[in-house]
Amino acid sequence: MEKLIINGGNKINGTVRVSGSKNAVLPILAATLLIPDTCYIYNVPALRDVYTMLELLKYYGADVEAGECLKINCSNIQNRPPSAMVRDIRASFLIVGALLGRFGRVSMFMPGGCKIGQRPVDLHLKGFGALGASQSLEGGIIDISGKYLNGREIYLDFPSVGATENIMLASVTAKGRTIISNCAAEPEIIDLANFLNKAGAKITGAGSDTIVVEGAPALSGVSHSIIPDRIEAGTFMLAAAAAGGECRIENIMIDHIRPVMSKLREMEVDIKEEENALTVYADGIVVNTDIKTLPYPGFPTDMQAQFTALMAKGLGTGIVNETVFENRFMYVGELIKMGANITVEGKLAVVRGVEGLAGAEVNATDLRAGAALIISALAAEGKTEIGNIHYIDRGYEEIEKKLSALGCKIKRVKCP
Ligand code: UD1
Repeated sequence: MEKLIINGGNKINGTVRVSGSKNAVLPILAATLLIPDTCYIYNVPALRDVYTMLELLKYYGADVEAGECLKINCSNIQNRPPSAMVRDIRASFLIVGALLGRFGRVSMFMPGGCKIGQRPVDLHLKGFGALGASQSLEGGIIDISGKYLNGREIYLDFPSVGATENIMLASVTAKGRTIISNCAAEPEIIDLANFLNKAGAKITGAGSDTIVVEGAPALSGVSHSIIPDRIEAGTFMLAAAAAGGECRIENIMIDHIRPVMSKLREMEVDIKEEENALTVYADGIVVNTDIKTLPYPGFPTDMQAQFTALMAKGLGTGIVNETVFENRFMYVGELIKMGANITVEGKLAVVRGVEGLAGAEVNATDLRAGAALIISALAAEGKTEIGNIHYIDRGYEEIEKKLSALGCKIKRVKCP
């Protein structure tokens, strides 16, 4: 067990480079299971979730060579009983679509709810069913069978990111045309479609609310570089806004972080844009505003906790409306320990900015909650100790090294 110790109240200064996107690489790793050939994947972030996914690929017989470029060959994979590893990360459920496409049959543990909400997979299953797969559930294990999947029109009741990806994966080698309407439009969906198209898939419309997949019989190896992580970029932007200072953030796709930039500008933070970089100039004082999380291109739920942390010390009151997940305010109690004045009522949090936050002993309650605590700790006076940082390691590569290079007083220590 480890924790992060942060001495706050210092300005941030310098340049940070954003890593590859966690939410883009995980479905792409799942997609390699569809390809009986070698894939070369670049810009892969060194994250706990990525390691878990790679272990899962190896369990099915994938050849994996790590390095600057991740080399994966799934020529000789075999269908196997479900591994308990899938319980470690929810994104592992994405291998269902890929295995169904590759073998026509898959057996998998049903994912449970998690701390931020129930997170059912009914839309994923509805999609597989529409493609012609039969399903049976026994003892928490779902068996899905569909030797000959046929393209169909599938309407998603909610633009679920995971369901869109899983249905894309299952339909890539199906017969005929699949139309996924009211699908998710996140940049990570576009990255998955680009990866699959390079391998020979015929996917159009990724990034819009309707994706069309024309079944392609066989896929072959590809070389692909993962897009930058827009949530990591946003987290550094907010860290700079909260602590104050001048922070240049490199390796970003500006269009992917427009909602975050717009909200920061509303809060009177100065941002200079370049082609693949931006610089935040901040004095550590923001003017609070309201945010409402929505599917892309709306404001990302994965930045909600970090914004609440920023507003904790802002001027005035801001209302945070979480519409994507039903239980994503677990971290608020930890911010209150640092002096924040926040009340939660269902899906709304009312943040009344206080003059200053003070360091405290707090615990991450999930990945982005952990990021929020780091932001508050950097803006607070005194020492903060953050426990449960295994959540943070799921989604932030070398967070303490990157922040140290920006002048932050942060270190990782082993818990006694
Ligand atoms: C992905 C991201 C996660 C992000 C989320 C929303 C990955 C690995 N994770 O998660 O970081 O916070 O998108 O942007 O990419 N839902 C259903 N039925 C379903 C599927 C989803 O009701 O079958 C609901 C969920 O409970 C949730 C909402 O839809 O309330 C959004 O979930 P979804 O878009 O599927 O998120 P994930 O793919 O799990």
